[in-house]
Formats: sequence, structure tokens, C-alpha cells
Amino acid sequence: MRDRLARLRRAMRKKGIPALAVLDLRNVRYLTGFTGSAGACLVTPGSAVFITDFRYRAQAAREVGRPFRYGEHRGALAGLSEEARRLRLKRLAFEENHLSYGDFRRLRKLARGLKLSPASPLIEELRQRKEAPEVRLLRRGAKLNGRALAQALRAVRPGVREREIALALEAAMRDLGASGPSFTTIVASGPRSALPHGVASDRKVRRGDLITIDYGAVVEGYHADTTRVVSLGKPSRKWREIYRIVLEAQMAAVEAVAPGVPAAEVDAAARRIIEKAGYAKAFGHGTGHGVGLEIHEGPRVAPGSRDILEPGMVVTVEPGIYLPGWGGVRIEDMVLVTGKGKEVLTKLISKELVIL
Ligand code: GLY
Ligand code: MN
Ligand code: MN
Repeated sequence: MRDRLARLRRAMRKKGIPALAVLDLRNVRYLTGFTGSAGACLVTPGSAVFITDFRYRAQAAREVGRPFRYGEHRGALAGLSEEARRLRLKRLAFEENHLSYGDFRRLRKLARGLKLSPASPLIEELRQRKEAPEVRLLRRGAKLNGRALAQALRAVRPGVREREIALALEAAMRDLGASGPSFTTIVASGPRSALPHGVASDRKVRRGDLITIDYGAVVEGYHADTTRVVSLGKPSRKWREIYRIVLEAQMAAVEAVAPGVPAAEVDAAARRIIEKAGYAKAFGHGTGHGVGLEIHEGPRVAPGSRDILEPGMVVTVEPGIYLPGWGGVRIEDMVLVTGKGKEVLTKLISKELVIL
């Protein structure tokens, strides 16, 4: 944690930011280790204050250690303005992506005389490169995902609702140690699989359906993210063909992952194959994204991304083809960028089309 604070201070110095109000809870957690639902930090070159309220006194004492000083206040904004006054600050930068206009006005009112200015996502930038303990949590999540899917697939048979499959999956993840799902579980069967984010519905799965299952476990705050497609009974020729194209695209993109490679090139590796097969318009989203304290974070693996892959980054690779009214396929792995190349963290689930 001390190292993270030192890196943040270096970034602040580079940007000419004398004091930063950290409002986003994921960023607060990253800096301090605090896992509660109300808190903020105030960081300057010589001081670091953690702000929360009465409810979190005991938890903060356990989770947040030096060099953070504990500041108990009625709320984050009141705390920031009072601590800024105490430190005699003249200027305070705030995370531009994490202060609503309403809160900005409230803070301005509370901290009269303090010059407020927006700061770019400094901590999000640091969070892109994972440290070894963070990689371990993501690896654990990926592994847990594999085991949970294997368990949940036992419940899949004709007549079962997508919602029930999602529940079986979420129960298995919890049972295996997840604190919860990374996002609302996607179970999209038959024609519904054309919806890239078709969250589980009341639809009953039928023989001949392809079922897209996109889900993940949160392990100590870190979000795993996997997609697999299974077939209930024998898939049609067209399904098999679409699956083969997406799998080829997905494997080409995984292959392209290496340190120093522009993330846009990983996207292009998948997109080229899907375009060549004639489905350019059916792949309307980016190939992947970073995962960590959030389900979607940097780097962006998409056309036009200017991010360059670096060791320690963990990204998803998840191309898909979606044909409205008919169905779709997406395959998603989590991939760690290493010093020399990559490590695919999603290991346990086969990428061959599983026929149930
Ligand atoms: N369902 C979120 C994702 O795979 O990005
Ligand atoms: Mn996903
Ligand atoms: Mn994803």
C-alpha cells in the first residue's frame, strides 16, 4: 500500500497536482485496503488522510493503517472540506470521473475559498498493472469460475429456465468462496444469445439451443470474467460454423497478447478473422477490457485504443458474432500479460463446443 501511495504522489507531481481528493471507493480501497461502502482520501505530498464516518470506525482501525491518518466525519464531502481547511490547502483536485455535479456544488459550498480543479484518472492508470497478490486473486477467480461452471452445467436440461441456470452458477461460485457475482449473470439461450448482454430471463432452454453463459466471481474485491457457450443437444451446421469462426478469432487475439503490443492490435487480430468470414457488422463491440477492482477497467482492447500492453495487465479476450433473430456466440478468457508473453488465466473450461 505504501508503494501505491508513493506511485500516486509521483503521478500527482508530474501533473502538478498539490492535493487530491479520492472519492471513488475502488480507488480508496486500492490505496488504503478499506473495503467499506463510505469513505474518501485526501492525499498531499506530505500527508494522507482516510475519511469515513462513525459506522466504519472499527473496520477502518482494522483495515487502514499508517501512513493514513484516520479522520472521522459526517460524510465524505464534509470530511474533505474540513481536512483541507486543517491542512490549510488553497487548491484541491478531485477525480473528474467520480464527482457528480451536485456533489461538486456541495463541496464548493462547504469549502469556500478552496480552488477546486478536475484531475484525470490517475489511480485507474496505476491499477492497470497488477501486483503479484492482485494477479493471485484474479487467477483464483478464474479458476473458481471454471469449477462453478462445471457444477452448474449439471443443472442444464430441456425445460430449465435461464434464471435457474444463473442461480445454480451463482450458488456454486458462492459455495466455492466468491463474495458474489462480478456482474449480473448472463445466460442467453437460443435466439436470445444474439443479445450481447442478455441477462438470464424466464426463457426455458430447449434441445438444439446454444446457450451463452457470461459470468464471474468476485474474490476479495477482484472481478473474474468468463464466457462459454454450450449446446443443448446437437448444434445445427450454422451454429457450428459461427462457433468455429468466433473460436478462431478468439484464439488469434489471445495469441497476439504480449508486452509492448498495442491493445488495438489484439482487437484487430480477432476482427480480421470475423471480417474475412463476412460477419464484420455482427461484431459491434471491443475485443476486451482490463479486469480488477472493477469488472471493466483499463486497458481498452478495442479499435482506436491507444493503450499498450504491459506486464501485469490482465485483460479479457471476448470477440463475438451476434445475428438478431437467430442467435450469437461469444467466447471469453482472462489473459495476464507477462514479461515474455502471456498466461491464460481461464484454464479449466474447454473452448471446444460443449454438447450437453
Ligand atoms: N459481461 C461483461 C463482459 O464480459 O464484459
Ligand atoms: Mn464477460
Ligand atoms: Mn468481459
